[in-house]
Amino acid sequence: MRFKRRACVIWCLVMKIERSIREGLRQLPIRPVYLISMENDGEQNIITIGMFAFFSGNPSLVGIGVKPNRHSYSLIQGSQEYVVNVVDDKLMGAVRICGERSGRDCDKFRLAQLTPVKGTNIQAPHIKESPLSIECKVVQEVKTGDHIWFIGEVQAVHVDKSYKWQQGLLFKWVGKEGFFYEIGAKKGKY
Ligand SMILES: Cc1cc2nc3c(=O)[nH]c(=O)nc-3n(C[C@H](O)[C@H](O)[C@H](O)COP(=O)(O)O)c2cc1C
Repeated sequence: MRFKRRACVIWCLVMKIERSIREGLRQLPIRPVYLISMENDGEQNIITIGMFAFFSGNPSLVGIGVKPNRHSYSLIQGSQEYVVNVVDDKLMGAVRICGERSGRDCDKFRLAQLTPVKGTNIQAPHIKESPLSIECKVVQEVKTGDHIWFIGEVQAVHVDKSYKWQQGLLFKWVGKEGFFYEIGAKKGKY
């Protein structure tokens, strides 16, 4: 009897529970967040993006998932270019502004006090204050659901000499709130 109760307690402790899909996906480990800059017909804009993925090593393909109702969506669709800018904690305020305000009604470079720098291989500007910027040309657009993935071939990468990869900002939903994190302790070797 006692054995049965103990077994039940252990089973209850290790048991997985079903959560709503939204809640369940929010339990996934922490992931990076980026500022994506773009330009179309002389109009520049920035959007905060969490949906980012590597798609290929050779050729070098990365992708960003953008909702079609974002102003950035039409700008990227028009120019077929974008820049992925890594953010650190100094850019946390800019990440909030660019993730809450729309370029339809404001100039986010000015509002977030960021400086556009001309790209070397594409027209889209980098963000000067970002320590690492990746220039991309769109090679494919994939509708996956409520987001469209702009798959981009990497044209050039610009890295600040003093950049340390540990400074890259991560994002995590905890309950109903989103928080920014830094990379934590090293746990093992691959
Ligand atoms: C942490 C964070 C991550 C986000 N990730 C995405 C994303 O992956 N795709 C997307 O379409 N919108 C994402 N957003 C929302 C857009 O950044 C937001 O709607 C923005 O105001 C759109 O600007 P725009 O209208 O100038 O394009 C995110 C916002 C935050 C704060």
